[in-house]
Amino acid sequence: MPDIMLKAENVNKDHKRAGEIIRALINVNLEIYAGEVAVIQGPTACGKTTLLNVLSGLDMPDDGKVFLDGENISRATEARLSTIRRQKVGFVFQDFNLIDALTAEENVEALLWPESLTSKDIEKRALAALRDVNLLDRKDHSPRQLSGGEKQRVAVARAIIHQPRVLFADEPTGNLDPESGNSLMDLLVKLNKDYKTTIVIVTHDEKIAQKYGKKRIRMDKGAIISVN
Ligand SMILES: Nc1ncnc2c1ncn2[C@@H]1O[C@H](COP(=O)(O)OP(=O)(O)OP(=O)(O)O)[C@@H](O)[C@H]1O
Ligand SMILES: [Mg+2]
Repeated sequence: MPDIMLKAENVNKDHKRAGEIIRALINVNLEIYAGEVAVIQGPTACGKTTLLNVLSGLDMPDDGKVFLDGENISRATEARLSTIRRQKVGFVFQDFNLIDALTAEENVEALLWPESLTSKDIEKRALAALRDVNLLDRKDHSPRQLSGGEKQRVAVARAIIHQPRVLFADEPTGNLDPESGNSLMDLLVKLNKDYKTTIVIVTHDEKIAQKYGKKRIRMDKGAIISVN
């Protein structure tokens, strides 16, 4: 039996906006094993991003517990959470979040700047990550000089430079045409195979979920309605 990498136990999370309470997660229970590729699907506003944020320690549940790699992160201090995020977790956001003033290589390196590594070590790792996503030849380009698919691959290189145990990707193919979307998904699956990285992907795309989701989690109105 593989280890459990992520576990949610009776998780509830409300968002409050202008006096209105939105129940974004309702009694969510979930287990994702080490080395799995899990896909979270569901209609807009059903709570997918909220679930990703809570599973990754970017946000806290109101009640219930979240375990990441065996540690109860719903009780962790802000300092511990920031260490966990820096060491164990990688993120790929839908809108890339790249910095235009930096080159592709510098964008990838930025994640390691707070670490006590030499600049040579940081560069070595950045170039290895850019090689993994097949973008070495674009390392000196600024994000403005890259296509959408290339930007998304820089975002993946940045997310894997510290060799995270878990990679979270929120609609990573949302802004890509089907061909670039498939090649990005192939890349994520390769990382899963090569490095045993656990991968959790949010997608609206039924075809992508079918093709790539070894575990498929469906949500509706804040609840998990099926896992298979
Ligand atoms: N910071 C916030 N403050 C207030 N309400 C929020 C906040 N974040 C999310 N919500 C609300 O919580 C609900 C769930 O949002 P969430 O972003 O998790 O949905 P989603 O499934 O990711 O949707 P989408 O597919 O459109 O990205 C929505 O009704 C949303 O408006
Ligand atoms: Mg979302």
